[in-house]
Order: sequence, then C-alpha cells, then structure tokens
Amino acid sequence: MEKSRPSDGPLTEAEILTWLTETDAARLQGLWARADGVRVRHVGDQVHLRGLVEISNHCVRSCGYCGISHHNRSVRRYRMGAGEILECARLAAELEFGTVVLQAGEDYGLTREFVTQVVRQIRARTPLAVTLSLGERPEEDLESWREAGADRYLLRFETSDPGLYERIHPSVPGQPSDRFALLARLREMGYEIGSGVMVGIPGQSYESLAKDILRFAQLDLDMIGVGPFLPHPATPLGDFCSTELAPNQVPATEDMTYRVVALSRLVCPEANIPSTTALATLNRETGRELGLARGANVIMPNLTPAPYRALYEIYPGKACLSETVDQNAQGIGERLRSLGRPPGRGPGSRRHAPT
Ligand code: 5AD
Repeated sequence: MEKSRPSDGPLTEAEILTWLTETDAARLQGLWARADGVRVRHVGDQVHLRGLVEISNHCVRSCGYCGISHHNRSVRRYRMGAGEILECARLAAELEFGTVVLQAGEDYGLTREFVTQVVRQIRARTPLAVTLSLGERPEEDLESWREAGADRYLLRFETSDPGLYERIHPSVPGQPSDRFALLARLREMGYEIGSGVMVGIPGQSYESLAKDILRFAQLDLDMIGVGPFLPHPATPLGDFCSTELAPNQVPATEDMTYRVVALSRLVCPEANIPSTTALATLNRETGRELGLARGANVIMPNLTPAPYRALYEIYPGKACLSETVDQNAQGIGERLRSLGRPPGRGPGSRRHAPT
C-alpha cells in the first residue's frame, strides 16, 4: 500500500513524519525527485553563492552543542577589524558572488556602531547584498544595521520544542531568549529572514523535527539552513553517541539531513536553501552536490581568512578547513556548471510568486 502518496495540498505533520521515518529506498527517491521538481519550478537552476565571513568567535552564550560557546576556555578568540572584513567583501564581489554573510558568536565587542559602519561601507563600495548572522542582539542594534543597508538576517531557532531548547540553551542572566519573537521583529524591520534547525540534536524526536519543518512554513521563511548536529568534544553534548539511539531519537546523519532539506523545499517552495558546510562535513565528496539535487539552491563558500577560519570551530572537522579560499571559491563556478546548475547572477533575493 502507498504510505505517503503525494497530496496536492500542503504537507501535513503526519505526512512529514512518514517521510522522516520512511525506510523504503525507492520511495525516498520519489521524495528527492519531488523536492528537485519544486526547486526547479520555484527558484530555477541557478545556485546563489554567498561568501561567508566569520568575523568574530567571541560569544556570550553557552549553547550546549557549540564549540565557540562562552564556556569553552580553550578557544583562542579573535575579532576581525573593519579593514579585514572589507577585504573579504571585496573578494566576494571579485568572485562575482551576490552576497556577503557576516557571521559571529553573540559578541558585544562587535558594537552597534562598528557593525553599522561596516555594513554601510560594504554597501557603498560593492554591489553585494549583506546578510548578518550575529545572534540575539537588541532591537536597536538590528534597526541600526537595517538602516545602514543590511538586507537579511539569519537566526536558527534550532528546535521548536521549548523543553529541548531550554536544555541546550542555558539562558544568559537578564537576557531571556525568544527567537521566534525576534524573527518576527526582524521581518517587521524589513529584513529577509532565515532560520533553521540542527538535525539529530540529542533528545530530538521525529515528532519534534516534523513540527520544526511545519514551523518553517508558518514563519514563511525566506532562507532555511539545516545541517546535522556534529558533536564537539569540548562541549556538554560532545560525548553524545548517535549510534546508540533512544527509539525515537532522530539520527544526525547525512540521509536524515537530505530528508529535512527536501521537506523544507516542499513546505517553502520559494525559500533560498543552502547545501550546508555541516552536510559537506559528513560527506566531503558528494554532500554538497546531493544537497543541491534534493532541494537546495545556495552554496556558502567560506571566505574567512585561514588563520581565523580554524579558530571558528563550532563543530570539529569543518569541510571548509581543507579547502583554500581560492579552491573553494574559484573552482566552484565550473563545478556548478558541470552539474547544469549555473552560478546565480545578482543578489539572489527571495523570489515571490505572482499573486
Ligand atoms: N553541530 C552542528 N551545527 C552546529 N551549529 C553550532 N554548533 C554546531 C554543532 N556542534 C550550528 C547552529 C548554529 C549555526 C551557525 O551552526 O545551528 O545556528
């Protein structure tokens, strides 16, 4: 009997759950094909390139999974200067990427004024769109950066299960965390908003992951980033072994990540969805390509200068560490063309279907 017949309406939670737990390889091929078809129809063949610059690894938060958590005393901390960041943005423009993404831990050493100036200068001197991913900053900061010309903001909600969220995100005194409220505010400010989850967080059930995917649709996300949870040994979740799973635990595997990428495409047909570095870390040979074949339409080559890149160790063995900026960035156009997926032109903003 057909377990999960594609229906015409939006996917239900039950259908999502069926896909997450599907064991029949032939039926899974159907999921990949369906996601790929929706991708072609809604966002086309172009693959948008976003140059990722990890501008600081300082962080005030102590997320249980993250290698640059405040609690990890063994990390050598860095913060890039404005000149260095601008150089990276220039490189992104030279390589004809449409966007530069400035990412960091939640670092108040990156002051409101500093980031405002950097955004202004990038917008004045390059044709790039600017995406920020700087944590749960106060609204005044986010407003100032938007006025300076920042176009997009990335803030993953990581899990929609409040109990699990609290277990892995100890709160900072005086700074309660409500990422859904912040995403709503960012949207009101005129940002394109991106969010996402990790796949296989210790304690994540299939039901909660299905709810996460429904949340993507409810939030009408412009960008969705998902990657497998990768244990970092210097963190409280570092010794979690995903091969000894509780019965309902989602495994942090490549296969499960493709399912979430594909389902994200089905629930948010117009979203920009990267094939992430975390995915490529599990499969260096074909992870990125398979992500692109199963719903993704964005790649984020890492443009962080080498000495800093190794220090931005949110999880171990990041795929981008073995690639130099040049290999990473210049070879990519040709690789994409050979897949029939030409590099995107222009900023690659979300396209909205005509109403
Ligand atoms: N494994 C996988 N992804 C991680 N991130 C942080 N730490 C890890 C880890 N150990 C992801 C989070 C964060 C994004 C920038 O990186 O989802 O939002």
